Amino acid sequence: MLTTEQIEGYERDGFLVIEGFASAAACAALRDRANELVDEWQPSADRTVFTTEQQDRVSNHEFLSSGSTTWCFFEEEAFDDTGALRQPKRLSINKIGHAMHDLDPVFERFTFTPELAQVAGDLGLDHALALQSMYIFKQPGIGGEVGCHQDATFLYTDPMTVTGFWFAIEDATLENGCLWAAPGGHRSAGLRQVFKRAGAMTDHDGTVFERLDDTALPTPPHDLVPLEVDAGTMVVLHGLLPHWSGPNRSERSRHAYSVHCISAAAHFPAWNWLQRPASMPLRRLDAVAAQIASAR
Ligand code: FE2
Repeated sequence: MLTTEQIEGYERDGFLVIEGFASAAACAALRDRANELVDEWQPSADRTVFTTEQQDRVSNHEFLSSGSTTWCFFEEEAFDDTGALRQPKRLSINKIGHAMHDLDPVFERFTFTPELAQVAGDLGLDHALALQSMYIFKQPGIGGEVGCHQDATFLYTDPMTVTGFWFAIEDATLENGCLWAAPGGHRSAGLRQVFKRAGAMTDHDGTVFERLDDTALPTPPHDLVPLEVDAGTMVVLHGLLPHWSGPNRSERSRHAYSVHCISAAAHFPAWNWLQRPASMPLRRLDAVAAQIASAR
């Protein structure tokens, strides 16, 4: 699937851009299904807002249980001063997460493909398990910034194996908040911090950051390059690579889908925020892709 040049580029840069990975039809099917999930979704009284800037506010029951559910998280700027939505619900959601790949047939078909399993294998991710899925809306006008981070902070394994597969469902541009990445930044320093369930440390089910390395992450856009890509492009992100995306103040949304995989051979500590019940084990990309193909 991948050329030697692509694999070497990924090892050097910490990311790899593959144009035309997903078909226009597959992107359209995923976007339509994401909109349906939002339409069907009824927010609870205790609303969940997602920004990486204010993790405290999302460290609640809905967030911590969303590793095994399909949950819609509002944009921080979705509400006015009275707490009412400023625009229709469909234009107010930051993202859907984090188990659609196991719970929804449309997301499952998009995720578990022989092509994705092959790319993961080519990049050295043995027996890749699909851990987390996110559908990100980056809504027009209010799409929030995602602060500079390393994915291994939020999905930790020993050794580090988390790898992000990010799909542009719509064109991503400088105007609507495309991804930015720090070329080679996965090699220049280690994992800066980990995000843990507070567990026994507190009397509530909150989360804490634990500092591992004081090396500063890049200050956007310094040391980062923009990844302006067309719909259908897949961007692979190394788990230690610093990346960021700015707010979307344009009139165009920037939908994206991301899947994070880990190696089945790595240890996934129970203090990770994302936990699955025993009844819902993680599934392998290659095995499920083969099952789907044989069922056709
Ligand atoms: Fe990320």
